[in-house]
Amino acid sequence: MNPLQGPCLALAPMDGITDAVMRDFLGGFAAFSYSVSEFVRVAHQSVLGRVFLREVPELGTGGRTTSGLPVQVQILGGDPDLMAESARHAVEVGARSIDINFGCPAPVVNRHDGGASLLRSPCRIRDVVAAVVSAVNVPVSAKLRLGWDSIEDIHENAAKAAEGGAAWLTIHARTRTAGYRPPVYWEPIGQVRARLGIPVVANGDIWDLDGFKLCREQTGGSHFMIGRGALANPRLSHEIAAELGLEVKNPDPGAVWNQHFCRLVARAGTDIKSLHRIKQWMSLATKHGSFEHFDLVKRATSVTELLSVLDALEARRLVPSCQSSAVSGR
Ligand SMILES: Cc1cc2nc3c(=O)[nH]c(=O)nc-3n(C[C@H](O)[C@H](O)[C@H](O)COP(=O)(O)O)c2cc1C
Repeated sequence: MNPLQGPCLALAPMDGITDAVMRDFLGGFAAFSYSVSEFVRVAHQSVLGRVFLREVPELGTGGRTTSGLPVQVQILGGDPDLMAESARHAVEVGARSIDINFGCPAPVVNRHDGGASLLRSPCRIRDVVAAVVSAVNVPVSAKLRLGWDSIEDIHENAAKAAEGGAAWLTIHARTRTAGYRPPVYWEPIGQVRARLGIPVVANGDIWDLDGFKLCREQTGGSHFMIGRGALANPRLSHEIAAELGLEVKNPDPGAVWNQHFCRLVARAGTDIKSLHRIKQWMSLATKHGSFEHFDLVKRATSVTELLSVLDALEARRLVPSCQSSAVSGR
């Protein structure tokens, strides 16, 4: 799987949010070219095929969601041999491409030699990528931040990832120490793209169409990834895909929030993981304008309770009608 033959828009991996249920839902609803799984951590031993099948169930259906969205498997770790062996296991159970996470800022991950901590050792990035590339016969990409604490680090880190054989790079336009704080720096992504001659996917803080256009102007690229913006604004993927000349499935814009949320709830199940994912999503939607009532639902301790709060809001016409589609699973 190499989705970067032409312009593309990827759904960003978001641990705890974009799990298989969400990927399936967004694959049917939104306008993405491909998605990336939440990271699968490779710690003290290689990850077995059955673990990949559990974490990325799409591997059992040709590497696509039932809605047809291709899913890349993302792995995270600092040991080249264990990463290579894990990638081989993922491919044995159906992975069509592998992404390596060099961007995760979580202290617990970084303390254990994974994610963004490798941004301080460009040669180790090269070694991990090279080991994985030589272990599998599918495309391997790398997802990086601009650096640990300097945006200049991207030039060497990206060059080493390319030297290791990465088929493409995805770059989140801020450093590890910046966390998720603004600003983002898109221009270095354009510089890397121009220098390295491999596809580079630009990522970070694309919240609306104007932001996308600015990012495109500053990077000069045609490959983009969006995460939080896609969850906060259900129309965003369609708007960007249209700008990129990609096929756009056209939802009824009037009912968009309703469909977006309720179809997910309908498929989510009632476990605690679903509750957390839905709350994360609603919190983003609240912060960025497409849902105003997170305060009222955030204390719900189950999906059922959350739905009954929504029912009450719906009865007061504070949210669009939701329950009928949630119940019938439409
Ligand atoms: C809750 C959350 C979980 C994330 N999990 C992952 C992950 O598993 N793997 C990864 O490469 N990036 C992860 N990211 C980073 C996103 O993929 C993306 O790079 C970042 O959110 C910036 O893009 P955005 O501004 O469009 O959201 C995560 C981000 C968030 C907010």
